[in-house]
Amino acid sequence: MSKIDVIKFIEERKNLIEMTIEKYIPKEIDANNFKSKSRYTIDFSALNYGISDPLWDFLSYGGKRWRPVLFLLISESLGANMDKISDFLVIPEIAHNGTIIIDDIEDNADLRRGKPALHKVYGVDTAINCGNAMYFLPLQVVEDHKEKLSIETLYRVYSIYLEEMRNLHYGQALDITWHKGILEKEPNVEEYLQMTAFKTGTLSRMAARMAVALSEKDEKIEATFGKFAESIGIAFQIQDDLLDLTTTDREREAFGKSYGNDISEGKRSLAVIYALLALEKSKKDKLIKILNAHTKDKKLIMEAISMIKETGAIESSREMANNLVLESWEDINSELKESEAKQYLKAFSEFLINRKI
Ligand code: IPE
Ligand code: IPE
Ligand code: MG
Ligand code: MG
Repeated sequence: MSKIDVIKFIEERKNLIEMTIEKYIPKEIDANNFKSKSRYTIDFSALNYGISDPLWDFLSYGGKRWRPVLFLLISESLGANMDKISDFLVIPEIAHNGTIIIDDIEDNADLRRGKPALHKVYGVDTAINCGNAMYFLPLQVVEDHKEKLSIETLYRVYSIYLEEMRNLHYGQALDITWHKGILEKEPNVEEYLQMTAFKTGTLSRMAARMAVALSEKDEKIEATFGKFAESIGIAFQIQDDLLDLTTTDREREAFGKSYGNDISEGKRSLAVIYALLALEKSKKDKLIKILNAHTKDKKLIMEAISMIKETGAIESSREMANNLVLESWEDINSELKESEAKQYLKAFSEFLINRKI
């Protein structure tokens, strides 16, 4: 049996992913690739300035592209006709890019992918519009496959998109309300997990469910893979929030977000929730006060982080992430026959939460 090398798998599909993105999000809009009907004259230079330039600045800063990789892994493992369906990888990836452009405005974040957040460069007005546009532009792929796929399959893709995007916004609503610190009650672990299933689990669930739907497998298989992908999404978010609290200065450059940004945001991450449960009253009040102040003061941020660390909340969060990945594997393990694709899926989920960036 060949050795499982997830990084190589990802590298080998990078080109396909980038080409597909470019197919649906042109680097420059002109009369030939413009999808909308128009009645008068279109100012293409203003249009490119307002949408194509910022979108491509953002897309070219990289991103791990792990949601399309998950889509490809699952559809390949289910034996789909990849020539027919691989374009659909663009949906979760572009929607994801839209959500982080908007999220950085909501979270008042300065850095993304090691560069200033899009609204810092182009302004909040352009960034909101670009982020929103990214929720609609990739759906063109559904229109473009009307001849190649059945209406039933395309409808399944649409309804997955609707459900997951609705839930993503419920997740963001919960997260934003908590980070404002305006409610009496702090969220508990179960509420945290549901919020994260909504805000982060949704896009990986979307990638997985679409892969199953487009491979024309039944709803039971869709539910199994959806649950698996949701769990690795939650574990990914927990791990990402741990990186915010634990990366060294050297690693931070690769991580690409500002140090302690989640503390400034007031984010109720899993580690924060565990810490609030464990700290004695005066320290708990102090931690809540720092979180609710939305401060960028390094000293206060460090103080909050050390209070979180002293409770063992980092280790407990890591354990939760690891358990989620292990658990998520159980259903897939019984559902899928032994194969190389199956081993890739397992290696991929482990790779996602063992990352440093
Ligand atoms: C960022 O997702 C938002 C979270 C769910 C934490 P990624 O870390 O996948 O973002 P990019 O695309 O690689 O920048
Ligand atoms: C990520 O939110 C989820 C979405 C954008 C939908 P976060 O706010 O937790 O992630 P980072 O820390 O900004 O990447
Ligand atoms: Mg954020
Ligand atoms: Mg956020």
